[in-house]
Amino acid sequence: MNIFDFIKKKQQHDKITMVTCYDYTSARILAKTSVDCLLVGDSVAMTMHGFKDTLSATLEMMCFHTSAVCRGAGDKFVISDLPFLSYRKSLSKNVSAAQALMQAGAQAVKLENAAGNLQLIRHLTESGIPVMGHLGLTMQLMHTLGGLKVQGKTQEGAEKIRQDAIALQEAGCFALVLECVPNGLAKSITQQLIIPTIGIGAGPDTDGQVLVYQDLLGLNIDFKPRFVKTFIDGHEQVKNGIEDYVQAVKSGGFPNDEHSYGN
Ligand code: KIV
Repeated sequence: MNIFDFIKKKQQHDKITMVTCYDYTSARILAKTSVDCLLVGDSVAMTMHGFKDTLSATLEMMCFHTSAVCRGAGDKFVISDLPFLSYRKSLSKNVSAAQALMQAGAQAVKLENAAGNLQLIRHLTESGIPVMGHLGLTMQLMHTLGGLKVQGKTQEGAEKIRQDAIALQEAGCFALVLECVPNGLAKSITQQLIIPTIGIGAGPDTDGQVLVYQDLLGLNIDFKPRFVKTFIDGHEQVKNGIEDYVQAVKSGGFPNDEHSYGN
């Protein structure tokens, strides 16, 4: 997968699949699947570090997880999130932040929202750094959005997202994440853009879908928004596996001869 394959897939109506990934072992598993690309999302602050939102993600944290993922990702295309405020400083500092993620191994960066980012997107793409956009419910803006809620429900809100999507495409983004927007809006933006849209909580008509790894695998039982589908009951399965281990140790069933070096 490279950035041209994203547009090719859109043209061929071949859905793009993206999953978040934050560590080497998970990347090794994902590398053996047919998923198209991996996102080292700033949701790492929540899923791996237990923070309540993504505002605690730092550039250092993103680089650390990006390099671990890239060591396990094989030939999967890896996109890494520019964290909160890391791209809202001087052009030079913003470029350095993107450079750090690319040098950690990412093939592209993702940033949230359009306003104030268009010049940077042009500069990055002209400098060899592909950029994925992200509109709708963008958590880095949660306090100015007045909380975590579906975006684009009013005509004015929908029009703003549409105009931002066009602006991101014109600035050079190769793909766009649409998060928590009404299905109809996601569908019409998808039809209007040349670049592919990747939805999360945006209905079935985007060019692709993204889910958080822990949500997809049912590992996260504390939080289940409406748009999440768990494909296996990972929490229960992992817990049962560990209980089986505890019981085997207590009963003397483990280790047996098979798992010992003899006398
Ligand atoms: O950080 C993340 O997990 C994301 C996805 C929700 C798209 O940005």
